[in-house]
Amino acid sequence: MVKNKNNQTIWNTRIKKNSSNFSQKIGSSIDVDKRLYKEDINGSIAHVEMLFKQKIISFRIKNKIIYGLRKIEKEITNKKFEFNKKYEDIHINIEKRLFQIIGEEAGYVHTARSRNDQVITDFKIWIKSANHKIRMMLNKVIINSINLAEKNVDTIMPGFTHLKNAQAVSFAHYLMAYVEMFKRDEERFKSNLNSLNENPLGVAALTGTSFNIDRNFTTRKLGFERPTNNSIDTVADRDFVLDFLYSVSVCSLHLSRIAEELIIWNSDGFNLINLTDKVVTGSSIMPQKKNPDLLEYLRGKSGTTFGNLFSMLTILKGLPLSYFKDLQDDKEIIF
Ligand code: ARG
Repeated sequence: MVKNKNNQTIWNTRIKKNSSNFSQKIGSSIDVDKRLYKEDINGSIAHVEMLFKQKIISFRIKNKIIYGLRKIEKEITNKKFEFNKKYEDIHINIEKRLFQIIGEEAGYVHTARSRNDQVITDFKIWIKSANHKIRMMLNKVIINSINLAEKNVDTIMPGFTHLKNAQAVSFAHYLMAYVEMFKRDEERFKSNLNSLNENPLGVAALTGTSFNIDRNFTTRKLGFERPTNNSIDTVADRDFVLDFLYSVSVCSLHLSRIAEELIIWNSDGFNLINLTDKVVTGSSIMPQKKNPDLLEYLRGKSGTTFGNLFSMLTILKGLPLSYFKDLQDDKEIIF
């Protein structure tokens, strides 16, 4: 097995000189990806359980590694863990600490695995949970909108085309238009789950491994539905990131439209609605003002979400297969 002394980075076999502080600082992503620590630890536990089941590592080593990983999890949760930029990312930070806790046998955790499949596994699990939370919130928005619509069947308002008075409509009918949009948003997030549910673990760096691993086992353990099909595609692919960012963008676009409409109706020119004091701000020099700051902020936020989508599209455009460091920024964009 490759010697892995604690003062060396885990890939320091051919490279003899330490990288400069400058390149460590630039290349490090630990400040961003430390948010993946739980996913990383659970992924590693599922991985060593699989290695044991396949008789690749012993019962003793498996338990030792799981003990160390659980200890690290507690340290991070209790803010007792020292993250080090020298160790680049969350995966190496955890692995280095595992060496300190259980010794050289920590190296077995990396059997039949590369950071390339490790990072996507963690990241997919994280996005899946974010996807779930967003769908829960969208559901609340839909239910609240329907309840509000129910109370406003007889509330008559102008319906507009070209922002000119067109025909009288019920406020309920208007609200239900947004309900349809939010329902489609939910569907978009759901369809993102197709790719998020494919387990990347086991494809290693890009060609898989000659160890007799069981990818169906880690698939079940980690709550995926099936293993990915092609190892090169797996480490190169970030479509699941694009799908998520696109779903977020369209949803924020809908929110931006509703925010803009409320701003217009609340404007002095239209004077159709009067926003509650809870969501407006005043002015220090113009005492008559009640500004719809929060709605403006909501309207503007879509700029950030579109920007995130375009950042990711641009990073992927023209990138040869398979893994490149360019991809590391996917996490900052998503978080
Ligand atoms: N921190 C890296 C990332 O997020 C992990 C993958 C590293 N793999 C590699 N071949 N350098 O992309």
